[in-house]
Amino acid sequence: MFELLKEQPADNILALMGMYASDKRTKKLDLGVGVYRNSDGITPIMDAVKKAENVLIKKQISKSYVGLLGNLDFVTGMKELILSNSISDYNYVGAQAPGGTGSLHQIFLLLKQANPELTVWISNPTWPNHSSMLKHLGLNFSYYRYFSEQTGIVDFDGMFADLQQAKQNDVILLHGCCHNPTGANLTVSQWEEVAKLCERDGVMPMVDLAYQGFGHGLNEDVEGLRLMASMVPELAVAASCSKNFGIYRDRVGVVLYCNKDNQVLPIVSGNLKSVNRLTYSFPPDWGATVVSTILYDKNLRQSWDNEVNGIKNSINALRLELKNALRRCTKSDRFAFLTDHTGMFSRLGLSSKQVIALRQEHAVYMVGDSRINIAGLNSQTVEFLSNAIAKVL
Ligand code: LMR
Repeated sequence: MFELLKEQPADNILALMGMYASDKRTKKLDLGVGVYRNSDGITPIMDAVKKAENVLIKKQISKSYVGLLGNLDFVTGMKELILSNSISDYNYVGAQAPGGTGSLHQIFLLLKQANPELTVWISNPTWPNHSSMLKHLGLNFSYYRYFSEQTGIVDFDGMFADLQQAKQNDVILLHGCCHNPTGANLTVSQWEEVAKLCERDGVMPMVDLAYQGFGHGLNEDVEGLRLMASMVPELAVAASCSKNFGIYRDRVGVVLYCNKDNQVLPIVSGNLKSVNRLTYSFPPDWGATVVSTILYDKNLRQSWDNEVNGIKNSINALRLELKNALRRCTKSDRFAFLTDHTGMFSRLGLSSKQVIALRQEHAVYMVGDSRINIAGLNSQTVEFLSNAIAKVL
């Protein structure tokens, strides 16, 4: 039977991981997949996570099923962390899901069940799995302009003009902060403009939030999202704990759906249960319970806040180092935008020929659109990268 299956295209980001692993050169640099690495090149387990796991090992007395929506303390804690009091406790429902991808997937399924004709508007460019998943699920999607290669910042006029074409009941997918792949983000007043447009045109905003805390801070990074949440009639959020809790492989994410009309909430909650049951039944518990242990314990919460701040500061310091090193090596200000961007990623604006030359001639691995994972650098590799870039320009 399965010989009838067709070969599937590889995911570019994940394919790069395989290419890097099989590269025999000793001096090589992986700036592909978005994982944080410390100055020793390790993706460490956060202290708060280790401590919470130790607490759980002692405290957990059963591994029986939890419930189709997962750990509800986790869901409530994540709502507080993300939306705070921009949404009242009576105006949202949520469910745990396996990672940010799982959360996006469950929202996409609900959208399809609610209205298979709608169009999801996604940024150009965006995380490639957005379009792959939408295609896979048979949902319509269109791109809105987002990034200006000339200025290295958001092309808000272009974005706004394209979003005017969204029809009532369409969905606009936004990145909550630290846009992937560009690193260029909306200002709070631009969030407000988009919120007004959604309200005016009956369009639902959906927010993919995978890097809260890695840009300007845990609260600062969601200022625009919270403002939008307080303004629009309804909103969906797919959030990931992979990066800011460093629990990538544990697959922890949350779906939040907010509506000012709370009559629709029970039906949405019931549908979330149903799509969970139909896909994987119960979401995996361990990582989510680690997160809720941290969020509800004053000391662990403080320690986690400090660690997230430390990562943010190190990413921002690396951005500055890289900008300066590139200025020195290329004798130009071409990469000055690096310190205007936030989060793990920046798109360097190199051609695909240059990206391939970096890989083949210098063992520097970045995604084909010249997205680099800043959080994969350290002081030594900044120099190595800058010299290599200068050679391929
Ligand atoms: C990335 O963009 O590198 C991360 O979000 C990892 C992934 O799953 O693609």
